[in-house]
Amino acid sequence: MREKLVAGNWKMNGGLAQNKALLEAVVAGMAGVQGMGCAVCVPYPYLFQAQSSLKDSAIAWGAQNLSQHDKGAFTGEVSAAMLLDFGCKYVLVGHSERRAIYGEDDATVALKFEAAQKAGLTPILCVGESLEERESGVTEAVVARQLDAVTGKFGVAALSKAVVAYEPVWAIGTGKTASPEQAQAVHAFIRGKIATQSKAVADGLVIQYGGSVKGSNAAELFGMPDIDGGLIGGASLDAQEFLAICHAA
Ligand code: G3H
Repeated sequence: MREKLVAGNWKMNGGLAQNKALLEAVVAGMAGVQGMGCAVCVPYPYLFQAQSSLKDSAIAWGAQNLSQHDKGAFTGEVSAAMLLDFGCKYVLVGHSERRAIYGEDDATVALKFEAAQKAGLTPILCVGESLEERESGVTEAVVARQLDAVTGKFGVAALSKAVVAYEPVWAIGTGKTASPEQAQAVHAFIRGKIATQSKAVADGLVIQYGGSVKGSNAAELFGMPDIDGGLIGGASLDAQEFLAICHAA
């Protein structure tokens, strides 16, 4: 039985004072909640703050990116080992903003996935199509290619210690959520595709939905059979919204 996972992706937002208030409110609002996972992926400079604030709670924390390299002359980069130093459990890999703005291709994303897993972090592998791709009917082909970049290189078993987040790019930060049926169709495609390689891995795989999830639409999305929680951007910056989403899981 899969447990739902709701993870906040703060993106490049926050500050010491506002993070403190947000983290305290989330810890208080999640006290005693069982049967689902909750995490926040914060900007690198706030990992220590997240660790200090969350270490005595059931809430996990993580980063939004990592280097594919172990160490060395890679100015500005952060390694998996460094994330572990700050107690991270999760790290996002291949978020569409990394792919689109920073040119991360499938091969780079696969290397980052591997670096995370080798270090013992749980990668949250983000996949999803653009509006143009959806409108040209290639959603499944795009998502399949993004998954194959990882499973083709490391085998389907690599997904047994990972999370997949399906995030249609056209629904990210736009207020335009995929309908529960639209999202479920892609989630079912992902699980079905993995199942052709390993039913056990497919059955155990947590597949989150991301893209304009709010307190008001979370329950309907999370009620779909293959949607195992969400990756939450904007709404994770508001404690009450984020808690409402967590409580819907
Ligand atoms: O990682 C989170 C996604 O990009 C979703 O962002 O909830 O602001 O649409 P959003």
